[in-house]
Order: sequence, then structure tokens, then C-alpha cells
Amino acid sequence: MLKKSITVTDNRNGKTYEYPVLRASRGPDVADIRTFYKDTGMFTYDPGFTSTASCESKITFIDGDKGELLYRGIEIENLANEYTYLEVCFLLLKGRLPDKKEALEFDLEIRHRSFVHEGLTNLIGSFPDNAHPMSILSSSVSALASFYYEHLDINNEAEYHEMAMRIIAKIPTLAAFAYRHSLGIPLIYPNISKSFSENFLYMMRAYPHDKLKITSEGELEIKQVEIDALDTIFTLHADHEQNASTTTVRGVASTGAHPYVAISAGISALWGRAHGGANESVIAQLEMIGDVKNIPKFIEKAKDKNDPFRLMGFGHRVYKNFDPRAKVLKKLQDRLKDEMKMDAKLLEIAHEIEQIALNDDYFISRNLYPNIDFYSGVVLYALKIPRNMFTPIFVIGRTVGWIAQWIEFKKDPLSKIARPRQLYTGK
Ligand code: SDX
Repeated sequence: MLKKSITVTDNRNGKTYEYPVLRASRGPDVADIRTFYKDTGMFTYDPGFTSTASCESKITFIDGDKGELLYRGIEIENLANEYTYLEVCFLLLKGRLPDKKEALEFDLEIRHRSFVHEGLTNLIGSFPDNAHPMSILSSSVSALASFYYEHLDINNEAEYHEMAMRIIAKIPTLAAFAYRHSLGIPLIYPNISKSFSENFLYMMRAYPHDKLKITSEGELEIKQVEIDALDTIFTLHADHEQNASTTTVRGVASTGAHPYVAISAGISALWGRAHGGANESVIAQLEMIGDVKNIPKFIEKAKDKNDPFRLMGFGHRVYKNFDPRAKVLKKLQDRLKDEMKMDAKLLEIAHEIEQIALNDDYFISRNLYPNIDFYSGVVLYALKIPRNMFTPIFVIGRTVGWIAQWIEFKKDPLSKIARPRQLYTGK
């Protein structure tokens, strides 16, 4: 009978150490090395945590080799095609999909919690006109900690449910306010007669007298295809295991800080172009390339070790196959291409880059495939979303994942303050 453990031999002195193997329900098992330092006097070394599990979780599972993504055991393609983003929020928070009544109650509660304290509009108003909405968003979410929850009883389900609903409901309002302030135009308040995704587009685009701009085709500016596309985008971004921003949220949770400042820290981490900021960089890069004839030059730059240039929207720490979210977005992009005026030149460059990269040994040998950001940039561009709002839209989708992971951390009896060690090579 094989033992459920591994044995490590220190070849410098022949000593051996045994560590239990903890079984996963899906994906890799883990070697439980919590006593490794006490046993051996050594640290393990894993910058960037390429082989390190930081926690146990039941929320999201990614199979990087197969290109699979499951939220609470349900495949992302199924969720994106069959359920609304708010139903997926319920699933991530509660561990199961809602019935019709629960889905309606959840939706109504989010609508009623979508307003923010007027003090936050003063804070947002204090930013310079050209402030990036991500900077305003991380600051205003941190400020939310001054308005709610002197203390939070994590054992009181009603209390942490309310805490989660407030942040999920208010982030779109703060994001839309940040955008409108960056343009110096009046804020548009939430309209609780509108669904989550429609309301966000409404707050982004409506005019103060509550009428939407009539387009040159004489149509209302918000189309159902846009609402559906944005709802799908929020679902695709909702959670993704222990990525850099979720690890940041858990790290802040581990010190006992306020849940909303943990979310604010997650927003800051997501802004980086190696992470959620990549969607904005993808479009900038496609515009910089400008024409398919310039693609080979940029592919060579991406392959040049001495050149810091990277192909934005390509590669992933976990996916060594197609990102399943990119596949859903690609179908969405094809659908939008017919219904919305897409920038044909940008699309042509994107498709040509994908074809070249998927057939180039440098990318193949490193398993570099298009990730979610490669296509989300193109789809958001087609939805006429301003580029500086691409990453705030990622924030809106991901907030439920961050808060679900925050709650899971707080309820985990094994959770401890995050405090890694180091390989010291100084004087
Ligand atoms: C997101 O973690 C998540 O789950 C994130 C996310 C989520 O939902 O939370 O999925 C969202 O952040 C998606 C990723 C968006 N970022 C980008 O598109 C930026 C471009 N991609 C790279 O910066 C990179 O691929 C990362 C950051 C995504 C992954 O970095 P890793 O896993 O640390 O990989 P690496 O840097 O060690 O690269 C391995 C090799 C290297 O070459 P060698 O040293 O082996 O010769 O691949 C090369 C890298 O130089 N490489 C690239 C490349 N990405 C990796 N070369 C050119 N262009 C690229 N985009």
C-alpha cells in the first residue's frame, strides 16, 4: 500500500524527512511542508510561487494543461452562456446557483445597495480631471472602510453577506463616477430599474436629464447585445484561483485589516500591466503596431531576451493551453463584429498576431497562448468602452471573487498572517 507521503533526503548529511501528501479533489495534490524549516533548518525557495499552494480553497479550479476553468465545480463556458453575472456572484459566494426567487432577491438587494455616501463624491471630485479611473477606484474603495463596519463578525452570516453585497453593488457606481469625473462631466446616479450590467453602461453614458443620447441611427445608445456582452465579460472575470491580486487580498485579510481596504489593495495589484492592466495595454499595442506588415518586427522584439517588450495578452502562469475565457470572448467578438461596428484594422492585426504566435516555435515551446486580456481588450473596444475603463471593468467582475476568497480565508481555521521568509545573501 503506497504511503500518502514524500521523503526528502538531505544529501549533505544523509538525513531523511517525511512529509504528508494532502489529496486534492481535482488537480495536483500538495506536499505539506509546514514543518520543513523546523525539521531541516532550511527554507524552501520559490520566487513568484510557481510551485507553492498558499491555501486550501473550494471556490475556483483551473486545469492549465486542459485549459479548463470551473467556478464551484461548474465550467465557465456553461456559466457564461446560461447564467447572468449576478447568478454567478451568488454561486461564488454561496457555493450553489440560486433558485428563481433567490436570484430575484439577490438582484434587488444589489440594486438597492448601488448608491454610495455623498461624501465619496466629494473625494472623487478632489482628483485631477485626467486622473486614471483605477487610481480613483482604489482610493474610493479604501475610503468605503470609513463608512462601514467598525467591526465585522465573520461568524455572523447576515453581517458578512451584507458586507459582500455592499462592495459588489457599489463598485460599478464608483467606477462610473471615476470615469465621468475624469472627463469633467456630471455624475449619473444608479437607476434601480436597470439590471446590473445595463445600469453600469447607463451610468457611463447617460445625460444628466436622464435621457440617453440618441445615436445617428436614431437608436437608444445602449443595445441589448452590449448589455449581454458586458454581463458575460463580468462573469469571465469573476474569479481565478490565487492570482496576484487575489493573493494580495488574502495577504491583507491575514493581518486583520478591513475587508474593503483588502479589496482596494487587490484593485491596486490588478492595475499592473502584467495582470489586469494587460487588457488596456493590448489595444495600445495593437494601435502601436498599426498595420499587419509591422507584426514580424514586434514578434521579433517579443522573442528578444534583451528587449523588455512583451506581447500583451499572451502567456499565463497557469494556462499552458488556450485560456477558456479567451475562447468565450472570441465567440463574443465574432457576434459583436456583425452587430457593432468593430475596428476592422485592429481586428485584422489581432487575428494575424494570434496566427503568427500560435505557429512560432518561441511561443509554442513556452506554451504562450492568448489569455483573457488579449480578447477582452478587442471586445471592450467594440463596446465603445473607453480604454482607461478596461481594467475598472475587470475590477467590477473580479470583486465578487476577491470577497468570496476573503470570506473563505477568514473562515479557514488554518489561516495565519502571511509572512514568507527569504534567502539572505547580503553582508
Ligand atoms: C491576467 O494569474 C492569473 O490568473 C491572472 C489572470 C486572472 O484572471 O487573474 O488570468 C489575469 O493577469 C492574465 C495575464 C495578463 N498579462 C499579460 O498578458 C502580460 C503579458 N504576459 C506576460 O507578462 C506573462 O506571460 C505573464 C505575466 C502573464 C506570466 O508570467 P510567468 O508565468 O511568470 O512566465 P514567465 O515570465 O516566466 O515567462 C516564461 C517564458 C519567458 O521566456 P524564457 O525566460 O523562458 O526564455 O515565456 C516568455 C518569458 O520571456 N514570455 C513571453 C510572454 N510571456 C512570457 N514572451 C513574450 N511575450 C509574452 N507575453
